[in-house]
Amino acid sequence: KQILVLHGPNLNMLGTREPSVYGQMTLAEIDARLEAQARAVGAHLVTCQSNHEGVLVDRVQAAAAEGVDFIIINPAAFTHTSVALRDALAAVAIPFIEVHLSNVYKREPFRQHSYFSALALGVIGGLGAAGYVAALEYALTYSVAT
Ligand code: DQA
Repeated sequence: KQILVLHGPNLNMLGTREPSVYGQMTLAEIDARLEAQARAVGAHLVTCQSNHEGVLVDRVQAAAAEGVDFIIINPAAFTHTSVALRDALAAVAIPFIEVHLSNVYKREPFRQHSYFSALALGVIGGLGAAGYVAALEYALTYSVAT
């Protein structure tokens, strides 16, 4: 089982970035938590953070060639802007969960539209880093119904 975790722009600043909104955990701490969770069941987990839309598009395209089974993605600000990243996920047709640390529905109106949610298997928001853990738990047991 191969799982890719993608983090969008500014998530490299977690820990110091608006901690009252995004929590105290750093991205390295979140990634280490997820890596341990995957390792415990013998799954292969790769994480990637980028501030650049094209890098994330390239990463999604590469995932198909690498045989990635499942993607967990926090597109961050690209949630609300990126048709390109959404189209990449549609192109590779790898099932994914959209995660947000904050509850975007109790924030500014511009955060309440996502280009990703209609394609996602599911969406988790407002649970902080626990949202990634829940998404990964689902991904680790998920198998396509045949
Ligand atoms: C976010 C919510 C987005 O609106 C914002 O641009 C982010 C992070 C979240 O995890 O809560 O950068 O995706």
